[in-house]
Amino acid sequence: MRPYEVIKAKRDGQVLAPDVIRAFLDGYVKGDVADYQMSAMTMAVFFRGLTPPELAAWTRAMLESGEVLDLSETPGLKVDKHSTGGVGDKVSLSLAPLAAACGVPVPMISGRGLGHTGGTLDKLESIPGFRVDLSIADYRRLVKSVGACLIGQTATLAPADKKLYALRDVTATVDCIPLIASSIMSKKLAEGIDALVLDVKVGSGAFMKTIENARVLARTMIGIGSEMGKTVVALLTDMDQPLGRTVGNALEVKEAVEMLRGQAPADYTELTLALTAEMLVLGKQASSIDEARAKLRQAVTSGAAERKLKEIVKAQGGDPAAIDDLSRLPKARTTVAITAEAAGFVTAIDSEAIGLAAMALGAGREKTSDVIDPGVGFVLEKKLGDAVTAGATLVTAHVNDDRRVPEVIDRVRRAYGLGPAAAPSRPLVLERLA
Ligand code: URA
Repeated sequence: MRPYEVIKAKRDGQVLAPDVIRAFLDGYVKGDVADYQMSAMTMAVFFRGLTPPELAAWTRAMLESGEVLDLSETPGLKVDKHSTGGVGDKVSLSLAPLAAACGVPVPMISGRGLGHTGGTLDKLESIPGFRVDLSIADYRRLVKSVGACLIGQTATLAPADKKLYALRDVTATVDCIPLIASSIMSKKLAEGIDALVLDVKVGSGAFMKTIENARVLARTMIGIGSEMGKTVVALLTDMDQPLGRTVGNALEVKEAVEMLRGQAPADYTELTLALTAEMLVLGKQASSIDEARAKLRQAVTSGAAERKLKEIVKAQGGDPAAIDDLSRLPKARTTVAITAEAAGFVTAIDSEAIGLAAMALGAGREKTSDVIDPGVGFVLEKKLGDAVTAGATLVTAHVNDDRRVPEVIDRVRRAYGLGPAAAPSRPLVLERLA
């Protein structure tokens, strides 16, 4: 079929055969299908959706557009975690060493922050010397010898997704569940995993603003996983406020290390334990979630998880002394207290607005070419349900560029909702799907 006919068939709601989908996506990677044709196709998918067999064929074509790693030289079941993206979400930084310390090899190919959400790679790069651009050969070696390796997407893994994502970004077709699910799963399935835990965020700081949409996305990704013979478990988790107390790269690394010392805020600690426990069960290092949680607590109290993080840092060129002595991490020049203008209880924290305010400070990037300032960010002194007096500090901003301060104060104040009474708290893990 000519590209024109394929687009027209999808536009008119027909079901495409797997070989037609494959030929269309292969043609796109080779340049035989033009960007404008793929734009029309993704818009047709946006309105018409994909049936499960179409989605499986679409994902397989994206996955097989590049190298699909086989990590069978590393014994044991390899398990990764993927989050759909949030604000203050530093879970990967504590989860990878925890899972590896408990015997689950973690091959993790992560992303950078874009827009209001942070990215694991940017956070890791705030550790002096840490390299995320290792070769696939080094990645394989470190998954085997250290038990975890965290790198960025390479040109050889799911190249169709790289090209397609850039196109979707400028054609208003990012927020489309089958396209998000195939994009995420094609990258994750390429990295050599046996099983995957998904953290599907729901709320003001997430792609999915409602639990219904989050559920559909999670079910779609679980379906793709089972089609490809991989077990996928999804937790739907609250992103109605930033996770933990910190937003910003080095600040989040510090909080992650504190988690491994048993000293981090309850929400961040709980989410890390919930997701990592699922990994231990999938990786057959525990037979139940309770047993997994006990192992994880032991890895924290014995110091094994923190030692594993230092091992990962050293293996990837970073300075493990910066983990021992957190004052060696990059720091902003000064701090500014952002205070409440009235008394009340914190009833809302718009996570997206906090993420954008952190970006305005330099903690994130608007365009992929923007340079991150690793030391800047926020410490949230007040979270949902906390009582606030007029003049109390809501957020401590860590700042390098004073010119950005007035805008940031305004953004943070507007992100906080204050009311006469504390709203009932929402559970952190809203649902588990498998
Ligand atoms: N993250 C991805 O990797 N792909 C999407 O389409 C959306 C979020």
